[in-house]
Amino acid sequence: MLEVRNLAVRYGAIEAVRGVSLTARPGVITAVLGANSAGKSSLLKAISGLVPVASGEIRLDGEDITALPPHRRARAGLAHALEGRRLFHPLSVEENLRLAWDFSAATGSFEAALATAFGSFPVLKERRHSPARTLSGGQQQMLILSCSLIRRPKYLLLDEPSLGLAPIVVQQIFRFIGAVARERGTAVLLSEQMASLALKVADYGYLLRRGQWVREGPAAELARADVQELSAAYL
Ligand SMILES: Nc1ncnc2c1ncn2[C@@H]1O[C@H](COP(=O)(O)OP(=O)(O)OP(=O)(O)O)[C@@H](O)[C@H]1O
Ligand SMILES: [Mg+2]
Repeated sequence: MLEVRNLAVRYGAIEAVRGVSLTARPGVITAVLGANSAGKSSLLKAISGLVPVASGEIRLDGEDITALPPHRRARAGLAHALEGRRLFHPLSVEENLRLAWDFSAATGSFEAALATAFGSFPVLKERRHSPARTLSGGQQQMLILSCSLIRRPKYLLLDEPSLGLAPIVVQQIFRFIGAVARERGTAVLLSEQMASLALKVADYGYLLRRGQWVREGPAAELARADVQELSAAYL
């Protein structure tokens, strides 16, 4: 279980995250919803160790990881797919997966891991020798997900995977994320601006506004929530 308690993130005078607590459980998709600048990426980066924590605590399976460097958190089973399609763009699909594999502590054979990735997204197999930069946005997002999952993480942080993608591609990606949580028992923390789509796949959700929770609850409940109340979270 991933537990965040009373977390704060600051950039100088800017308080990006203030007093946020959350729980992400195995096999469950937890959505962090909020508008531009709400603090979603800052929260995820603090969890994976990419930005320092001003105060608060982060626990993974009961162990306090708040002071651990990012690579130690990765070794403890945490993967973070950053926003903005961070890939090695001149390298091929297969080379990107190979690099992710080489930097992971995963055991077994690369060929088996590759077959699993290609099984999930056959289009990546077709494009295996193409440079990542020549892929469509949706294919790049599939590659990012595959690079994150090749490490067989217990915890997956996904920062706005829907950004810039057509709704039909977003649905495919979200369905895949749902299957990963159910079948592998991965705990997924999904940050999204597309609240209605995210709540269709998520089990539980938190609404973030200016660095603070304004509401939390089961996804079905949030999806039914008063439109005015939800949109207030986006002001
Ligand atoms: N490196 C940084 N230095 C200074 N301020 C930052 C930095 N990163 C983010 N911020 C500020 O922190 C606040 C939260 O930003 P953050 O990127 O976490 O929001 P977000 O919810 O991910 O937004 P978006 O949906 O646009 O990705 C914003 O006011 C932003 O300008
Ligand atoms: Mg962001």
